Amino acid sequence: MANRSSSRAPNIIVPFVLFSLIAIACAEVFFEERFDDGWEKRWVKSDWKKDENVAGEWNYTSGKWNGDPNDKGIQTSEDYRFYAISAEFPEFSNKDKALVFQFSVKHEQKLDCGGGYMKLLNGEVDQKKFGGDTPYSIMFGPDICGYSTKKVHAILNYNGTNHLLKKDVPCETDQLTHVYTFILRPDATYSILIDNDEKKSGSLYSDWDLLPPKKIKDPEAKKPEDWDDKEYIPDPEDKKPEGYDDIPEEIPDPDAKKPEDWDDEEDGEWTAPTIPNPEYKGPWKPKKIKNPNYQGKWKAPMIDNPDFKDDPELYVYPNLKYVGVELWQVKSGTLFDNVLVCDDVEYAKKLAEETWGKNKDAEKAAFEEAEKKREEEEAKADPVDSDAEDEEDDDADDADDADAEVKKDDTAEIETETESDDVKDEL
Ligand SMILES: *[C@@H]1O[C@H](CO)[C@@H](O)[C@H](O)[C@H]1NC(C)=O
Ligand SMILES: *[C@@H]1O[C@H](CO)[C@@H](O)[C@H](O)[C@H]1NC(C)=O
Repeated sequence: MANRSSSRAPNIIVPFVLFSLIAIACAEVFFEERFDDGWEKRWVKSDWKKDENVAGEWNYTSGKWNGDPNDKGIQTSEDYRFYAISAEFPEFSNKDKALVFQFSVKHEQKLDCGGGYMKLLNGEVDQKKFGGDTPYSIMFGPDICGYSTKKVHAILNYNGTNHLLKKDVPCETDQLTHVYTFILRPDATYSILIDNDEKKSGSLYSDWDLLPPKKIKDPEAKKPEDWDDKEYIPDPEDKKPEGYDDIPEEIPDPDAKKPEDWDDEEDGEWTAPTIPNPEYKGPWKPKKIKNPNYQGKWKAPMIDNPDFKDDPELYVYPNLKYVGVELWQVKSGTLFDNVLVCDDVEYAKKLAEETWGKNKDAEKAAFEEAEKKREEEEAKADPVDSDAEDEEDDDADDADDADAEVKKDDTAEIETETESDDVKDEL
């Protein structure tokens, strides 16, 4: 109302100011963490995996390369470790509004196996015990392992069961900061953005199996007896040519000659060896023609699924209350920053621009500088390699790859263990 009446005001500046005030008032930020001073009071490090001595430490840092050394986040700092940390915010429900979940992540370690995702949790959580088995509402973000897994996870918990996104959304694999955004709307649509660029969008109904399918094949339907599903049939007009069966399969080799020293009396009568007859075409078969009565492949008709019951609140998470990171990492160096939970897509977009967008060019330049230095130092440390031709460099790369493979195998067991937890959850 205020907006409408003010738009009639003669001064055009007034409605503009009012409108932006309303826009800001409408945006609700449930949680925003830029990891400035005091972040440690807001986040609780879990004791999960501590007694097994495999709980990793976080490093509060802007990383080895960055666009602003004062803009810090939290980075995994130990290899082969589990990480679990979470923060609480005032409980809310996303009913009737958009839910925007966004954060930035940078894998400085050239991640070969590990996650870079975050979770939204609901209800009451003992943050000191937060770990891989703690139920969550949404798990979202990149996951990399070996050559096969390089994807954005978007796992939704519905009615106590975790459901994986059925669509493939590749994640970023370089060593720079990227912003991952998950948007869930009251019309049960979603979008996944990387660096403010939409990579995937669709419906909760089709891209996850949250509910049973709306339509199913009629289980009662049967293929009619007289259904003709032969696409080709023998041509009834085609006739076997006269004399076809008289063509022999083999004939005497016309090029064979009786050897000069062949003695009919001693060696018997000479006969030429046989060869396959080029005229012989095998047993006669009529030509195939398109079946004029072809009815197509039979398909059962689709009917309404009696087990489908729509849930107009499919997208609703009624008591979201925590955001957390729970990861296993083979190689550490993943840096999280600028975590946002809000109901305003534009606000999230702006935050990404003001942080990642502002710093990305300087970060890239710093990264390239660091890479150059690293290569120079490697060359100094190994002068043979620096004199060597490209060939030898390739060998060195191969050795690195092999090393990564071995590490992957080492951790395969632990990895499947954590993976199977997720799978278990899904069942
Ligand atoms: C934290 O990160 C900085 C920047 O990369 C690094 O110099 C420092 O050694 C790290 N500290 C730990 C404990 O890993
Ligand atoms: C929710 O889960 C319960 C128990 O597992 C089940 O009986 C019910 O049908 C489920 N509801 C929906 C909408 O999936």
